[in-house]
Amino acid sequence: MGPKKFFIQTFGCQMNVYDSERIAQILTARNYRPVDDPARADLILVNTCSVREKPEKKVYSALGRFRALKGKKPGLLIGVAGCVAQQEGEGLLARVPYLDFVLGTKELKKIPEILDNLESSGDRACAIALDGRIDPYGGLPLFPAPGGPTAFVSIMQGCDNFCSFCVVPFVRGREVSRPSQNIREEIRTLSEKGVKEVTLLGQNVNSYGLRTAGEPDFVRLLESIDKIPGIERIRFTTSHPKDLSPGLIGAFGRLSKLCEHIHLPLQSGSNRILGRMNRGYTKEEYSGKVQRLRAACPEISITTDIIVGFPGEEEEDFRETLKMLERIQFEEMFSFRYSDRPRTRASTFAGKIPEESKQERLAELQALQRGITQRRYKAWEGREAEVLVEGSSKARREEKTGRTRVNHIVNFPGASVAAGSLVRVRIQKALAHSLRGELI
Ligand code: SAH
Ligand code: SF4
Ligand code: F3S
Repeated sequence: MGPKKFFIQTFGCQMNVYDSERIAQILTARNYRPVDDPARADLILVNTCSVREKPEKKVYSALGRFRALKGKKPGLLIGVAGCVAQQEGEGLLARVPYLDFVLGTKELKKIPEILDNLESSGDRACAIALDGRIDPYGGLPLFPAPGGPTAFVSIMQGCDNFCSFCVVPFVRGREVSRPSQNIREEIRTLSEKGVKEVTLLGQNVNSYGLRTAGEPDFVRLLESIDKIPGIERIRFTTSHPKDLSPGLIGAFGRLSKLCEHIHLPLQSGSNRILGRMNRGYTKEEYSGKVQRLRAACPEISITTDIIVGFPGEEEEDFRETLKMLERIQFEEMFSFRYSDRPRTRASTFAGKIPEESKQERLAELQALQRGITQRRYKAWEGREAEVLVEGSSKARREEKTGRTRVNHIVNFPGASVAAGSLVRVRIQKALAHSLRGELI
């Protein structure tokens, strides 16, 4: 009998992708090996997201599929981690009788103990402590396993903002910054293993370090990462518009490794709705910050998130969101139909919008943005861009794929170009969400 095998299915945001990699690291240290096929696994873990109704539903259908495997292989262990695990806790063990364990968002380090208990006594386990401002990665080895030239690095966990629609503060707990020294060491190790680009992750990176004595603020952290040899590009996500400081705006264009892209979720273009969402800014303040970003860094690409059909959203509020799309000219937009989330204030609000109206608004919003995105992509035709090569294109093996600094995907012929190289490419054609080019 060789080493045991594990399979992890990940839903949700980059934070979950990072956590899944951390879990894989813990399991590998326990002599487990990753497999691509759940049918070959001795342990299946579903890392879950509960930010909207749809991703939460996917968790239960995934579990349903894995149940059949358990029938064929009685020793198979199935666990649920992440935000649905945190949200449902013991209830999940009751609802899913074939589930072996539930692992909360700040309990990664409990995995070995849980597995030991399951192996020796078969006891089902639920670990979902969330208290205090404790670094969930504290005590774990630094993350050393890059999958290519780019890597995510979590710099903080949790959120204290309590936007009225959002479940994150309830499932990720209070905001906790990781020690800056750990972050830098982790990035240095990644760099030594060939990583060229890091994306710093947090629910609201702008407030990094503010609640921890002796830690730098986010701009200082960026400055120190900018000096790490071998790292060529720095990105971060997500940045809350209300906390986007003049210092951070000034960092674009000043720090050479900081890429010219910011994801700045607007959520709505109506001040009345923004107030009900508890977002802490008006559309005028948002536009002002965008103007300053573009003055500091004319190349910058700005992407956003929008929610349609928030409780009480009138046709007029929605028109204001459309107007904001025209005014700001986002590079890309991620848009969602509002859904009620457990424990959030908005779930108790009156004025729920029927699903058909949400769907109509979503379609109109997306049609408008499609045109804007297309024009912005088209503007790149004929220009040169620096591309960090990530690997071969999935569709055509002889082609390479990578991203520009403003975060556009570029595909180009270049069989001999190695992943991790920084190359100059001339953009020939804009497609819906990517560019085609040729090596210069
Ligand atoms: N921390 C990030 C957002 C994380 S959630 C931030 O502050 O911007 C990602 C996106 O999901 C949000 O920006 C929002 O647009 C969407 N979202 C969150 N809760 C939602 C809900 N209840 N219904 C619909 N969309 C939601
Ligand atoms: Fe949710 Fe708001 Fe925190 Fe973002 S800032 S994670 S939307 S509560
Ligand atoms: Fe989803 Fe949790 Fe991320 S709810 S969006 S996986 S923080």
